[in-house]
Amino acid sequence: MIILGRHRLRMHANPFSIRGPDEPVVWADIFPRAAPFALDIGFGCGDFPMALGQEHPEWNVVGLEIRQQYVDHLNQRAQAENISNVHGMLANANLHLAELFPADSLIFVSVNFPDPWFKKRHHKRRVIRPEFLEPLLSKLRADAQVHAMTDYQPIGHEMRDVLDNFAGFENIDGAGNFAPESTTGILTERERTHVARGDAICRMRYRVVAQKMEPQCETLLPEQPTFHNVFN
Ligand SMILES: C[S@@+](CC[C@H](N)C(=O)[O-])C[C@H]1O[C@@H](n2cnc3c(N)ncnc32)[C@H](O)[C@@H]1O
Repeated sequence: MIILGRHRLRMHANPFSIRGPDEPVVWADIFPRAAPFALDIGFGCGDFPMALGQEHPEWNVVGLEIRQQYVDHLNQRAQAENISNVHGMLANANLHLAELFPADSLIFVSVNFPDPWFKKRHHKRRVIRPEFLEPLLSKLRADAQVHAMTDYQPIGHEMRDVLDNFAGFENIDGAGNFAPESTTGILTERERTHVARGDAICRMRYRVVAQKMEPQCETLLPEQPTFHNVFN
């Protein structure tokens, strides 16, 4: 059951069976101007991407959700509030990320209170896994950050361990540590509930440290062929 404001929506379909976009996404048709993308995975009712877009007008904020009702709700909110840099999209982050974004285009990624998937046979549905970080890393800009949080301690430790041990990410608070407080200053719906109850929350933030080096052009001899002088 999903409750959006006063509306209750019962769902029957398996949300993991959703297909990715049939055609390549043309971001220029969605956002009025090009900008680095901030990505919020599993945004729920959408308070977080809405606030993020307002706090960072210099970003285009994309929310990915496996539930159409949430996607519609976010896009209706953004339209009603005249926020043109926030957009929700129906997609499974673990399956469709690679086809959605160009390389080096994401400046910020958040995974807030991902579903824990308690049963062992469902662990493969957990969002933060090495198989997900590999394609994600290629989409991140060299100055990008990845933030995550959960109230479920075993998942918090698992996400931290996976990220700490994945080459290309550095724990901003030091390996093995969690962030001491909110990493963005923006509360999600889930976070508000847990804060009100006094529950412990595992928050973490990472920066990219992969060798995402610009080509060292000055080391090339002038007559050496480069992509530009061969193809332009
Ligand atoms: C527990 S809710 C958290 C909602 C919100 N981020 C918050 O903190 O209040 C997790 C959300 O992630 C979505 N979700 C789960 N797996 C996903 C995936 N692989 N890709 C995109 N969304 C996903 C679910 O539909 C659900 O709305």
